[in-house]
Amino acid sequence: MKNTLSGGRSGKIFKIKNTVVRPANPWTKNVHGFLAYLKNKQIDFVPTPIAFSDSEEIVSFMDGAVYNEPLPEMMLTDEMIISAARLLRQFHEAGSSYLSSLTGREVWMLDSAAQPEVMCHGDFAPYNVTIMDGVAKNLFDFDTLHPGSRLEDISYAVYRWVPFYSTTEEGALEERQQLERLRLFLDTYDLSMAERERLPEAMINRLEQLVHFMQVQAENGNRDFQKNIDDGHLGKYLNDITYIIGMKDKIRSAIMEEC
Ligand SMILES: Nc1ncnc2c1ncn2[C@@H]1O[C@H](COP(=O)(O)OP(=O)(O)O)[C@@H](O)[C@H]1O
Ligand SMILES: [Mg+2]
Repeated sequence: MKNTLSGGRSGKIFKIKNTVVRPANPWTKNVHGFLAYLKNKQIDFVPTPIAFSDSEEIVSFMDGAVYNEPLPEMMLTDEMIISAARLLRQFHEAGSSYLSSLTGREVWMLDSAAQPEVMCHGDFAPYNVTIMDGVAKNLFDFDTLHPGSRLEDISYAVYRWVPFYSTTEEGALEERQQLERLRLFLDTYDLSMAERERLPEAMINRLEQLVHFMQVQAENGNRDFQKNIDDGHLGKYLNDITYIIGMKDKIRSAIMEEC
């Protein structure tokens, strides 16, 4: 039986028995290579890569629920953000030893200007993670996988998991709560002080990269990205960039001061 999965690109992701069938891309081969590497290391929180062709990829279906925005209350608990930070740390640790097997000529969807330290998920957000028993459990949707820095992956993860959205937006958390949740994520991940210092800039850069990427994709005729723009996502990112620029000093003091 073939079921359409919602929460991502509409009508493009299917569940067939205990597998997920998704559109393939030029980087799918590299993604499957990495997932196979993790599976070999007995990592159980990513899907098993099953097969791919020029048009489709098949991976295993991961158990758990997936929540999209606006996030329900149960996605905003301390346990949830702590488990998300742990999951990202575990993922980075498991993948860092993969870097030595790369040539640097592999095709990925996202480029990184940073010195590679880990394999970045690239879109580590609640909508790409399954939840079980009130905590973040499994990670999927590896289209944005690429070698990069811890900081670039974390900067987008905190944007989505806190979430660190402009307080002018409907449903956004209060400033104080955002700063506390941000600190909790970073303390759990155990991010260094030098990286914390650079976090506000990294968050801004990551969102600017996203805006640029969406615009280029839409100009090149990619309908999924044109729809994103039409749905107001680009305007939201620009609003959040302005907000984070204004919050730089407050962010640094909240995440760097001794408790
Ligand atoms: N491996 C998987 N295990 C469980 N659910 C999945 C898996 N892959 C995708 N899904 C479900 O399908 C939805 C859309 O998939 P996703 O791959 O994130 O699409 P997109 O690439 O468009 O973001 C997700 O919200 C999730 O509910
Ligand atoms: Mg997704």
